[in-house]
Amino acid sequence: MKKNKITVIGAGQVGGTTAQRLAEKEFADIVLVDVSPDLPQGKVLDLLESGPIYGYDTRLIGTENYEETANSDIVIITSGVPRKPGMSRDDLLRVNAGIVKSVTEQVVQRSPEAILVVVSNPLDAMSYVAHRVSRFPRERVIGMAGALDSARFRAFIAMELEVSVENVHAFVLGGHGDSMVPLPRYTTVAGIPLTELLSKERLDALIQRTRDGGAEIVRLFKTGSAFYAPSAAIVEMVEAIVKDKKKILPCAVLCQGEYKIDNLFVGVPVKLGQGGIEEIIQIKLTPEEEANFRQSAVAVRELCEAVDKMI
Ligand code: APR
Repeated sequence: MKKNKITVIGAGQVGGTTAQRLAEKEFADIVLVDVSPDLPQGKVLDLLESGPIYGYDTRLIGTENYEETANSDIVIITSGVPRKPGMSRDDLLRVNAGIVKSVTEQVVQRSPEAILVVVSNPLDAMSYVAHRVSRFPRERVIGMAGALDSARFRAFIAMELEVSVENVHAFVLGGHGDSMVPLPRYTTVAGIPLTELLSKERLDALIQRTRDGGAEIVRLFKTGSAFYAPSAAIVEMVEAIVKDKKKILPCAVLCQGEYKIDNLFVGVPVKLGQGGIEEIIQIKLTPEEEANFRQSAVAVRELCEAVDKMI
């Protein structure tokens, strides 16, 4: 039986931790790629040496070139420069757009049928770069943002109400970061709408903390950005695809008329299965939610227009 093959580009904090989480799940062979000499080989050796303790036999390869990535089923792109304190996501645009462009070119030559999961920031714009350069159908270019943002929102809600995170289902739309649009109306705790459990004041505070979730971690780390929750969110998406779970998760996808958004990557709920994006779930928004969503889309469009001139 053919085993799944997953390539992770970037062996830094997010890429390395993603490879670890995937290795422990044992559902695919893994190729870890980085431009930094010996780094991917070192991480892979360290992971292989964990195998006997954790009890996994996952095949792992670490490399600086792309030959070993051929015929990957999924390619996760984490390569780039992480956000430093005081640096906005937008500052990252130019440098990461160049990196994502060159990585995508290398990857698609060797894995023309792969599903691309884009993680590098600024996320919505980098997904746009990967889509433009790969010319893949939109079903196979997916940005990881909403799964992370909604996990953060869920964690904050669970802490506030002192309930299990498993009881909390959250709903987040829009661009990643400052312009994200959490939807409390569709956020529930054991089926109870959040709006019945929290005052508007507390709710607004949790929403703001979710919007600033990435920056809060950057402030605490001082060097580098979050990687535990991002890698967990990546693996949640990858598992849904590999196991054809038809799981509904918020992801950044190329909207072509959905939510009245044309030709733009923004976070919307999608059904993930073996084909990648199998359906974009469209829900009714109130005029206020729709206005916030449109504003978020404007911010993404500005970034994409800027990136268009760079690559
Ligand atoms: N090809 C392959 N790897 C590259 C390239 C390239 N062209 N350019 C940079 N890299 C590698 C770096 O050598 C580094 O090991 O990408 C890795 C990035 O790792 P970190 O610096 O540890 O960054 P990380 O915290 O993993 O974040 C990666 O994910 O969440 C986003 O904002 C974050 O865009 C950033 C990305």
